[in-house]
Amino acid sequence: MSGPSSDYDPVEVTPLRADEVEKMRDDALAAVATAGDLAALKQARQEHTGDRSPLALANREIGALPPQARKEAGRRVGQARGAVAKALTEREQVLEVEREQRILAEESVDVTLPWDREPRGARHPLTTLQDRIEDVFIAMGWEVAEGPEVEAEWLNFDALNFGPDHPARTMQDTFWLEPAAAALVLRTHTSPVQARTMLTREPPIYIVCPGRVFRTDTLDATHAPAFTQVEGLAIDEGLSMADLKGTLDHFWESMFGAGITTRFRPSFFPFTEPSAEVDLVCIACRGEQPAVATCRTCKGEGWMEWGGCGVVNPRVLVACGVDPERYSGYAFGMGIERTLMVRHGINDMRDIVEGDVRFTVPFGMEI
Ligand code: PHE
Repeated sequence: MSGPSSDYDPVEVTPLRADEVEKMRDDALAAVATAGDLAALKQARQEHTGDRSPLALANREIGALPPQARKEAGRRVGQARGAVAKALTEREQVLEVEREQRILAEESVDVTLPWDREPRGARHPLTTLQDRIEDVFIAMGWEVAEGPEVEAEWLNFDALNFGPDHPARTMQDTFWLEPAAAALVLRTHTSPVQARTMLTREPPIYIVCPGRVFRTDTLDATHAPAFTQVEGLAIDEGLSMADLKGTLDHFWESMFGAGITTRFRPSFFPFTEPSAEVDLVCIACRGEQPAVATCRTCKGEGWMEWGGCGVVNPRVLVACGVDPERYSGYAFGMGIERTLMVRHGINDMRDIVEGDVRFTVPFGMEI
């Protein structure tokens, strides 16, 4: 009968030997002590306390020992693991404090630094002027209407009573889009917005139509190939030229102050009949002697040309589905670059379009 093998000493299972456990512990403590940041510490934690760490594997061996040997091995491994866990916690606290201090130092804001080196943006003076113009009409109960810049030839011309061979069709030098068969133009005025509104809504209609328009002009001191218009349209029962005059007088007084009146000179537009050019009392000399004689704003005229207007031609009403027996209306249009130039003494149109902030900023920082 053979007895138990005498050269097998269960207490001496290699991973559980005192010197082995001590080495595991010391390796772990060294890794913890040298972890330079929280990420390195996390790695050390995984390597030395994770499921596959030497101490965890040793711990698993304890169960295989005979009962009398388990206590001692358990204590040994347990103490080693406890020491590592404690070291980890302490090191973590130290590294967290370090990290916080580093963040505080790195992300601190020097409140004494100058804050205004990055200039704030501002809206272009044309935009703020356009808003002001709209506001005058909104205060009278009008609405703002907008439309596309690429427009159907029919809406830009035909609906507005420009006949196919009408010289007025070339009067406004038009950008045509390719292919010609598409019959598309860059709108030459914002009047097509008025046509669109009449086609889709029932009167009464009171709208202002601000927007960019395009004509084949070369950029110079007084012309630009793209400029901004504000047109207006009123359609109601019994409207006449007198309503138009009253509206425009009110508008210009709102823009430039009391006493700025308008005068009409006969003119021609296909879409209005009768039609007129609107002149405005010069805002600088007010047409008064003796200032008018030397006035540079109106060049001694006392009046400034401003735009076109008239009573809507019944043919336009018919084309846009409005009954001319019942309704009448008036329309007007003006370029607002010109208004801006006169209002602020700007001599060169190019200053307005070039987008140089040195031009924009003195108008104020309205955002
Ligand atoms: N649409 C005209 C233009 O751009 C301006 C205008 C509008 C004239 C309304 C009369 C009535 O020239």
